[in-house]
Formats: sequence, C-alpha cells, structure tokens
Amino acid sequence: MAAKRGVGDAPVRGRRVLVRVDFNVPQGPNGQVADDRRIVEALPTLNHLRAAGARAILLSHLGRPGGHRDPTLTLRPVVHRLSALLGQPVPLADDIVGVHAIEQAARLENGQFLMLENLRFHPGEEANDPGFAAQLAQLGELFVEDAFGTVHRAHASTVGVPKRLPSFAGFLVDREVRELSRLTESPERPYAVLVGGAKVEDKLPLLRSFLGRAEALLIGGALAFPFLKARGASLGATPVPSGLGPAVNEFLERAESSGTEVVLPTDLVVDRGGAPGAETHPAANLPSDASAQDIGPETRERFSRRLAGARTVFWNGPLGRAEDSRFREGTREVLSRLAGTPGYRVAAGGDSARIAEDLGVTGSFQFISTGGGAALEFVQGLELPGLAVLPDA
Ligand code: ADP
Ligand code: 3PG
Ligand code: MG
Repeated sequence: MAAKRGVGDAPVRGRRVLVRVDFNVPQGPNGQVADDRRIVEALPTLNHLRAAGARAILLSHLGRPGGHRDPTLTLRPVVHRLSALLGQPVPLADDIVGVHAIEQAARLENGQFLMLENLRFHPGEEANDPGFAAQLAQLGELFVEDAFGTVHRAHASTVGVPKRLPSFAGFLVDREVRELSRLTESPERPYAVLVGGAKVEDKLPLLRSFLGRAEALLIGGALAFPFLKARGASLGATPVPSGLGPAVNEFLERAESSGTEVVLPTDLVVDRGGAPGAETHPAANLPSDASAQDIGPETRERFSRRLAGARTVFWNGPLGRAEDSRFREGTREVLSRLAGTPGYRVAAGGDSARIAEDLGVTGSFQFISTGGGAALEFVQGLELPGLAVLPDA
C-alpha cells in the first residue's frame, strides 16, 4: 500500500490537532491498564506533536459500551498511565463533545494534551453519525490517525472526522502499514503462514486469503479440528463446531490446486476428564473421552522444520489453549524455535501479541502488530476504511 501523508509533514504548531489513538487496552480487575503496549506505541506520535508545539486532543474507544456511558469502561485509568508515560498531566473531558470539552480544548496551550472520554459512550461514534462527526471535527483544526488497531472500523472518529479535516497518518500507522505491506507485496519466498486460535467461522476468510499466496499454511489450535475431521480423523470428545463441513471441504479442495500446502497436526495433546496429566495421541484417532488441547511433539517438530525453511513467516493465534500451563508447550516451542531462523517474521492478533509476551517469545518476531482484526484484514488485502480515507504522501 502507498505511504500516507505523515504527521511529520503536518503544520501543527499552535494548532488544535485531533489524534485518534487505539487505547482499547486490556483491563485488570479494577479497570486498571493491564497491558500498556498500545499506549507506549503511540508515544512517538505524541512526543512529536508535543515537541512541535501542537495542542493535541486525543480520541479513543475502550471496549464495547454500545453507545451508553459505562463507568467500568472509563478512560480515566488510561489517562493516568498516559500522564505517567508522558511525564505531563493529561486531563480527561468527560462530556466528549459537550461544553466542557469545547472549553478545555480552547484553553489548550502549545505542547499540551487533552483526552476525550470513551467515544463509544456516544451512539454517534459507531454509527458514524454525521452530526457527531461534525461536532468532533469542530474541536480541532487537523486530524492525525494513529489508531492502527481501529482502522478497519468505519466510525465517526476513523472516517467521519478525517473526511472533514486535513488528515495525516501518525508514526504508528505508518510503521504498521510499512511492515504489514511486506507480507502482502512480494514477500520473500518461501512464505509460510502459521495460524491457530479458536473461531473457524471468523478465520476462514483469513485462511482462504493465503491460498495461492503462501507456500505453506500450517494450521494449529482449535482451528485445526474441523479440517482434521474433514480429512477423516476421529477427534473423540473434542468439540468441533457443526455445519462447517461444506465450507471446510471447499477450502481443502481449493487448496489442492492453489500451490499452497495445508499442513495439519498429526498428534495432539489431550485432556481426559478425570485424568490428572495431559496425554498425547495421534490426531487421526483420539480416545472417545479425549478432548484435544494442544499440538503434540511430532507436530511441533514438523511445524518448526517447515517454518525454519521459510524466508517470510506470519503468525496469528495460539496452537493450543495457551492460557493453561499444561497446553502451552506447542505454541511456546514452535514460536521460540523461530527465533534462530533467517527471514522476516511478523505476528498479529488480538490475543496473540499478549500470548507471545507471556510465553517470552516476542524476540522471535521482527514486528508484532498492535492490530487485532485490523491487522488480519490488512494481511488479507482488504481495504481498511480508516486508511482509505487518508491522503497518500
Ligand atoms: P487472536 O485474537 O490473536 O486472533 P484467537 O482469539 O483466535 O487469537 O485465539 C485465542 C484463543 O484460542 C485462546 O482463547 C485459546 O484458548 C483458544 N485456543 C487455541 N487452541 C485451542 C484449543 N486447542 N482448544 C481450545 N481453545 C483453543
Ligand atoms: C481492537 O482491539 O481490535 C480494536 O480496538 C477494535 O475494537 P473493536 O473490535 O471493539 O472494534
Ligand atoms: Mg482473539
């Protein structure tokens, strides 16, 4: 994708600049920020704006409050963390586009920040309501898009506002587009894709998009179950979503003629109700009371060898139920063995980045996207409304 006009070229001094960030971060039990990576990744843009004398008004959502005020989804803990990271207080305007927000925005001085409360407290955000977008746009004079994780949403803050103001890409968006484009535009070959996780219905389009584009597609996690079943495996007590047979068969048929080899697990670590430990069984034939939880040692070896020969690797989704220490070894081993291999490796996904962090394998990747759905849509080659609306460089 062509580079977008960047914030580095924006005339921001003394100007009120609306900055869309994605501070939709995981929360702890008391609403505290449990993982601040998305905040930290926005700092290059925010530090630049401060140094350049902008008056920055930050916009974000948190969770899915559905157009209503939900005290558990306030951005207050986020501005608290952000203030600490910036070493400067960032006040929160809790009426979003009301008189307080207007007054606080007007009082900003060069190099200061203001954050608006969770945009999704207002029904106009997700509806991309023109009136709400116009009210937001009136708070600023320029717009900077740095919420890569949200560019797949056509909401007021991601599409409505940039249509109304001169708009620029922030440094995070620029970096995400540059890195992820290395997967979509002539990746170095062989290109191998490793996909796990749970929701087959959601991930079938992603998997389809790699047919004919990657040399190998390695499928693990619960995602592999319907494919194993379609190839005749008996999966014991493993829950396999019903009704997917036709789509999965069609996928496997298309794969045959696509030049992309689909590689499935040959052994699985299972849970057998009462039994205390985990057992490994051939994937073709699990005991009737066994429910599959992770890829087995033989599969780890096959996947690792396959990936070691690749020059480009994309990973999304755990290969087992990695939240449980008994079932994380498949993901941990395959990802950690990637580290020493040559080539370019990228990870993306809502849960995947955190899992890589927990397993201590972030070093296996040159780039870990801050995007969940946005990154998965990008690598499929889909048009993302929040990027399409920004002018090219
Ligand atoms: P991402 O958000 O990064 O795209 P997913 O949401 O698709 O990743 O995958 C994460 C979920 O997949 C985790 O909750 C994990 O427990 C689940 N998962 C992976 N493998 C299995 C499995 N074998 N059985 C049950 N759940 C699994
Ligand atoms: C994400 O975490 O993927 C983004 O912040 C978008 O959130 P959403 O899926 O609720 O639109
Ligand atoms: Mg997920």
